Amino acid sequence: MPDPDVFRSGFSGASLPAVTQWCAERVEDAKTILVPFAGSGRDIAAMAGKDRTIVSFDTQFYSRAIVEGIFAAETAETNVDKIHYTKGYFYENPMKNMDERCAGFIDWVGAHGTLYDKACMGSAVVRSTLMGRMTQWYANVEQLYLRFLRNRDSNVKYLNLPGKFVHHEGSFFDIQPPFGPFDLMQVDPPKVIVGSDIYSANYNGMNRALGGENDLPKWGWREVLPRFRNLMEVDVQRTLFFYVSGVRPDYPEVFKLLEQYGEIKEEDTFTHQGRTDYAVHLRRKDV
Ligand SMILES: C[S@@+](CC[C@H](N)C(=O)[O-])C[C@H]1O[C@@H](n2cnc3c(N)ncnc32)[C@H](O)[C@@H]1O
Repeated sequence: MPDPDVFRSGFSGASLPAVTQWCAERVEDAKTILVPFAGSGRDIAAMAGKDRTIVSFDTQFYSRAIVEGIFAAETAETNVDKIHYTKGYFYENPMKNMDERCAGFIDWVGAHGTLYDKACMGSAVVRSTLMGRMTQWYANVEQLYLRFLRNRDSNVKYLNLPGKFVHHEGSFFDIQPPFGPFDLMQVDPPKVIVGSDIYSANYNGMNRALGGENDLPKWGWREVLPRFRNLMEVDVQRTLFFYVSGVRPDYPEVFKLLEQYGEIKEEDTFTHQGRTDYAVHLRRKDV
């Protein structure tokens, strides 16, 4: 049974609802939370709470549109009264099988939509690709518009979430120390499947079309452990770290790294359609 309370936006790699719930249950009394990889904001929405500040990062514009345009917004602002077209990034660089009307409508929302509109359009775009994989287009403009309108209605439920949100559009690794301290850090990193992560491989077009200015950073397997070490240097009391089977480097290697930096409080696994998701709860060694 799908959990009706989980924020759904159509995004490759959003946490499984059971994992999101695991995460929310371990926030405890944390008042300051760092989320270096916001993604679709599903975990952020689940961890939000009164008197709590969530500081998040993501290189994708879509994540900013979700956090600032939905979670932190008081009302659903929209500029879209019907399907409009303009020539922008997707018109010039369409996704495989994308027609000019779909490209032109997405480009128009990228140029004239509010953050709320762009969050709703991002989700409609993902859902209009074959199996939601962002590799080839699979919709006509009426279907795209209908998905946009449905998202515009359903996201109202996630407006004005409790607490404070401070989001940064950009790479977490570009920030300069000193940084923190935070009570909790939630890490759900990109995973390297074949050669690279799915975001730098498939999400660049949407990112540009919606107004993003960053090239999405490529994650090759060699970059993964050094980046995780970097993350583990942040001044935090506790960390919730999520990983998955079938990727490179594999989970045992990542677990070994985590053990060097913290005391393992809990480790859980979730199996789902032939893959296993791992969740690790770490406490800083000296506390
Ligand atoms: C697995 S997803 C996070 C999913 C999230 N937990 C959710 O529920 O939707 C990983 C995210 O990391 C982002 N990302 C990749 N490299 C990054 C970087 N250097 N700094 C910040 N975000 C980055 C990707 O754009 C992607 O949205």
